[in-house]
Amino acid sequence: MAFTQGTGRAPSGSRFRGMGLIGSLQLSKGIVTGGIVLALAATLTALLIPVKLFSEARRSGVFDRAGATPPGFTDDNLGVQDTQFGPLTAVDRDFVRRVKLAGLWEGPAGQQAFKAGTTTAVRKAGEHMVTGHRTLDQVDLAAANVLQIVAMPNKPSPEQQGWLDEILGATPQDFDAKFVQLTRAAHGKVFQVVAFTRANTQNTQVRRLADEADRTVRDHMDVLEKTGLWKGEEQSK
Ligand SMILES: [Fe+2]
Repeated sequence: MAFTQGTGRAPSGSRFRGMGLIGSLQLSKGIVTGGIVLALAATLTALLIPVKLFSEARRSGVFDRAGATPPGFTDDNLGVQDTQFGPLTAVDRDFVRRVKLAGLWEGPAGQQAFKAGTTTAVRKAGEHMVTGHRTLDQVDLAAANVLQIVAMPNKPSPEQQGWLDEILGATPQDFDAKFVQLTRAAHGKVFQVVAFTRANTQNTQVRRLADEADRTVRDHMDVLEKTGLWKGEEQSK
């Protein structure tokens, strides 16, 4: 009973006076418990806010699983679509369209190199670009069809058309170097986009396309570098 009669020593004049040891302990325990609950609530809030923001970004289709976008990404503002092959993001759809764009300018550039290249290596590079993009186009269009991706491009972008015009308008003396320089620089950029998509897409059709694109881009960089006319990144500056 003594423990309930205020045998504990409480500060004189304080609100603890007369509460006793048990009362003080219970009050302290309550304060500690309250502190823990507040700390847990704060931690949970800190964790939930970024998750909520990230979820909204994912729903909007702007971000892919990595929470980022590849270089040159264009958002079609259609968000994430559910398909039988997995979620289809704006990044995925942009990739499918960009594969088509690559073929639209590299095909004619490769054809010209196959005809007008002055060395076997340049003509071979041109041939690889024509055949590689023919195959890649088939996979790409099949993916676009089953994924019901609309607004597929039917002509090169203005930038690509500019490169193509430079190649088609090059003098015989300049042709080989111009062709290799412009196409190799473009492949270096698209390689990053392919790697990003291959690593992050959750859609099996897009992953299959990224696999095929990865093989194609590597092959094209190989044959272009074997021409001996590509000396490195400084050529694209
Ligand atoms: Fe290519």
